[in-house]
Amino acid sequence: MKPDEIADLKRRFDIEFSRSETGEYPAAFPALPPVPVGRYTDPRFYELEQQHIWSKSWLIVGHAGELPEPGCWKLWNRAGFPALIVRGKDMKIRAFYNSCRHRGASLIRGTSGTTKVLDCKFHGWTYDLAGQLIFVPAEHEFPGLDKAANGLVPLRCEMWGNLIFVNRDMDALPLMQHLGKAAEQLVDFDFDKRRICAILPYDLPCNWKIIMDAFQESYHLDATHVRSVAPFLDYRGSVIEMWPNGHSALTVPGRRELSKLGDQFVLDAGSKSDDPRHELTRTANISFTIFPNIIGTCAEFQFPMLAFWPTGIGTTHVEIIITEPQDCPDMDPAIAKTTIERFAAVMQEDMSNVAAVQESFDCGAVREIQLGYLERRIYQFHEELERRIGSQNIPPELQIRPMLGAYIEH
Ligand code: FES
Ligand SMILES: [Fe+2]
Repeated sequence: MKPDEIADLKRRFDIEFSRSETGEYPAAFPALPPVPVGRYTDPRFYELEQQHIWSKSWLIVGHAGELPEPGCWKLWNRAGFPALIVRGKDMKIRAFYNSCRHRGASLIRGTSGTTKVLDCKFHGWTYDLAGQLIFVPAEHEFPGLDKAANGLVPLRCEMWGNLIFVNRDMDALPLMQHLGKAAEQLVDFDFDKRRICAILPYDLPCNWKIIMDAFQESYHLDATHVRSVAPFLDYRGSVIEMWPNGHSALTVPGRRELSKLGDQFVLDAGSKSDDPRHELTRTANISFTIFPNIIGTCAEFQFPMLAFWPTGIGTTHVEIIITEPQDCPDMDPAIAKTTIERFAAVMQEDMSNVAAVQESFDCGAVREIQLGYLERRIYQFHEELERRIGSQNIPPELQIRPMLGAYIEH
């Protein structure tokens, strides 16, 4: 972050703190209308998300470090289609449906490995690492077969630094254009120079947006994270930046009464770095949302990114992907273990609320949710869902009104 951007955020902390002291609602900011709970529970809305969000969005499928050599592959299937991600002889990473063009068998079985070619186990049709059909057993039995036109069906596959994304929508904006302002603002976190050090998986009994919502606001810190986070971070100074395409950031300053922050929650607080770009990650907590399903907490060194995957209308798989700079020396395993345990403990606190929320939604006790100013990123997220699905496709009782256009920072 540049010095003027850091100064600007500090100025915005001050505005939020003084607003909190005087109990003023921000002048001119609209009160947010309630959001219908059916957006979390109605099968019609879930189906619209499948059609318009999961089939048309850039989705994180892995990290370049998982595929170090030509021929390295991994299978991925978290959004309703089987994707085969493979590094070619030219070192380019590509993605295809894991579906043979002959009669649809899967090409690769298992989760990851290395191969010279992609050969179907059903009848032996064989493709090269770039997806071209190169061999058909008894090819004379298929008169007129155009091998050049029967390569594997590609998926869009693009990189944000070392992170691999796929998209089924061949007309989607290029990934970096989709990220836009978010990628610009997060450039100091060097996504091209990070490696994965751990992935923690969780399965939760709630709609994917219930758990995502919990990570999009700081209003819950004092009540939910009483001893873990609240002693260090002061939600009243929270600054929210809402960017185009549904992305956003939330920066929560450290408590002003503490002369030195503990390292319990400010990720870089214990670091010896004096890199001026990272001043704020040593004194505050910066988290970001990448639409549709990534939330990360930034730090100069180790930090987690969470990816949220619906496994049903009321169930979610969460991956906490912990990354670190690839050139940093291997962490002391004891420190790494403590850090990971700390993430897991905070996650447990967040997860402790979600089953009850789902139950309240399912039983009809709560028919709409109320969002305050500090929760406006959740409304922004719903606006982006609305924009992508198209209001005209949404049953009237589940629609929301766009309110935040003027507050998006371009
Ligand atoms: S289905 Fe793949 S070779 Fe027949
Ligand atoms: Fe939380």
